[in-house]
Amino acid sequence: MTTATVDLYKPVKATLTKVIDESPSIKTFVLEPEVEFSFKTGQFIQLSLEGIGEAPFTPSSSPLVKDRIEVTIMKAGFVTEKIHNLKEGAVLGIRGPYGRGYPLEKLYGKEVLVLGGGCGFAPIRSLLYNLEAEKDKIKKLTFCYGSKTPKDCIYKGYIDHLRSVDKFEVYRSVDQADDEWNETEGVVTCLLDEISINVEESAAVVVGPPIMMKFGVQKLLDIGYPEHKIFLSMEKNMSCAVGKCGHCMMGKYFVCKDGPVFSYDEIKDQPDIWK
Ligand SMILES: Cc1cc2nc3c(=O)[nH]c(=O)nc-3n(C[C@H](O)[C@H](O)[C@H](O)COP(=O)(O)OP(=O)(O)OC[C@H]3O[C@@H](n4cnc5c(N)ncnc54)[C@H](O)[C@@H]3O)c2cc1C
Ligand code: FES
Repeated sequence: MTTATVDLYKPVKATLTKVIDESPSIKTFVLEPEVEFSFKTGQFIQLSLEGIGEAPFTPSSSPLVKDRIEVTIMKAGFVTEKIHNLKEGAVLGIRGPYGRGYPLEKLYGKEVLVLGGGCGFAPIRSLLYNLEAEKDKIKKLTFCYGSKTPKDCIYKGYIDHLRSVDKFEVYRSVDQADDEWNETEGVVTCLLDEISINVEESAAVVVGPPIMMKFGVQKLLDIGYPEHKIFLSMEKNMSCAVGKCGHCMMGKYFVCKDGPVFSYDEIKDQPDIWK
């Protein structure tokens, strides 16, 4: 593998080497780019399929791994359905990385709270890989994850691993439990009543569907988190990914260029932030 510089506008070819079923609607795609591909946790890529189209995704793999990139994709429409039908050996295009990722320096020295819902675990997994590798830099990590049903919980093996990591605590909830579920039943925000965290020493990251982020942020504000210590990864429809076309505008911001990660105080007054 060469280490040629990646051209931000031109896709790099990447071979699909493995497909992992995570839930009935979510799969992880392991890709091997033809050149080393670097990104910072929370940045996104544009993944393309020749003759079909492209869509933005945040890598779910570790930013410390350069020869392989994993994307975890929920089937949502035309492009994602075509990607879900791919078999090992298929060739895709990757361009990027784009945007501003998680502000790691604002998490160092803190009790980090991560609140995630559904496919929002994908970008969170990349952050957790990064923080696990640097766990001497944080006080502790509390991860609260919610999904609709036990079948929709993704990365089950990785959850077991996280529970064995020193300084890491994991709490899970499902909206609707089954007979085998022995964790919390209820919306993900109810997990915030179970955890023990020193809010003054903490910063929070929230990633998930808009409605979950809206209520998650509200609850964090209620328990005392200041607006500038809540970080959100925003998803808006995108096209160019480089701040030219305006598809991703959220008030004064280009989500592709200024985000996708924002602190709540930066975006709270912009229109339609939860749509
Ligand atoms: C920065 C960023 C990172 C993302 N990371 C991931 C990820 O890691 N995993 C993942 O599964 N998805 C992720 N998404 C969402 C993903 O890009 C969309 O699901 C995808 O573009 C839908 O394409 P489609 O052609 O399959 O659906 P379409 O046929 O285009 O649309 C299906 C539905 O999805 C909506 N939609 C389309 N594009 C987006 C979008 N960008 N954001 C939100 N809704 C959209 C449409 O309005 C429509 O309701 C991310 C989006 C952004 C902006
Ligand atoms: S996607 Fe074109 S400006 Fe952001």
